[in-house]
Amino acid sequence: MLTPIPSAPTTLADALREQTKAAHTRAERHPQQGRLVKGESSRQEYAAWLGQMLHVWRALDRALVAKAGSDPRVAAMVRPHHTHAPRLEDDLDFLGVKADNFPPLGATKAFVDHVNAARDAKGPALLGIWYVLEGSANGGQYIAKAVAKSLNIPGPRGLSSLDPHGSAQRERWQTWRTDLNAQPWDESEHRAIIEAAIVTFDDVFTMLEGLEAHERGLH
Ligand code: HEM
Repeated sequence: MLTPIPSAPTTLADALREQTKAAHTRAERHPQQGRLVKGESSRQEYAAWLGQMLHVWRALDRALVAKAGSDPRVAAMVRPHHTHAPRLEDDLDFLGVKADNFPPLGATKAFVDHVNAARDAKGPALLGIWYVLEGSANGGQYIAKAVAKSLNIPGPRGLSSLDPHGSAQRERWQTWRTDLNAQPWDESEHRAIIEAAIVTFDDVFTMLEGLEAHERGLH
């Protein structure tokens, strides 16, 4: 009789990738992201996106510091290169716009509220939010190439929000995944992290919708 081959246990990093695939595709296919990759975006539209993301990254940068203070598993993962808000501020400066020109849209406020709630929550849901935002640099590298060409930005200034790690991207992402998998999360924490990641992709999508509606209102 054939013995069934046991399937390899899924790591949390793999489960995150698998279980957020549909949510990623939905965000990636949003028309605003499509314009960025197809080189059809204007500098104003690009800056408006960075301006909203800046609110989210400011909240997440702070939340990670707070969480690292209370959860040694998070402390074991956070590195100095994980702080992103200063990159967005510098890119906006390069584009010649002030960071405070972009008050948070309703959808951005809701996103920031989710980050702050995860910071204050007992469990590690914040890791799901961090996964989506830190992981976005993987595709961001490709988007940065398209934006560089279409908006005539030689980089790295002006592109560092999309491509924060440059040639270290692959290695840093692999380290993030390995560090995540090395921490002892229990089953319910796994679920909470994955659920938070799915909600975060929805937050990104809703923010993109908010940006479109805002643009339409301006024209
Ligand atoms: C046009 C838009 C987008 C494109 C073309 C794109 C493309 C990609 C590609 C090619 C990868 C895999 C890179 C690799 O493995 O080397 C990736 C990974 C990822 N992207 Fe996107 N992406 C887009 C938008 C987004 C957005 C808006 C988010 C969330 C804010 C996001 C979050 C992620 C995450 C979390 C991963 C890591 C997956 C994993 O390794 O677990 N992406 N993306």
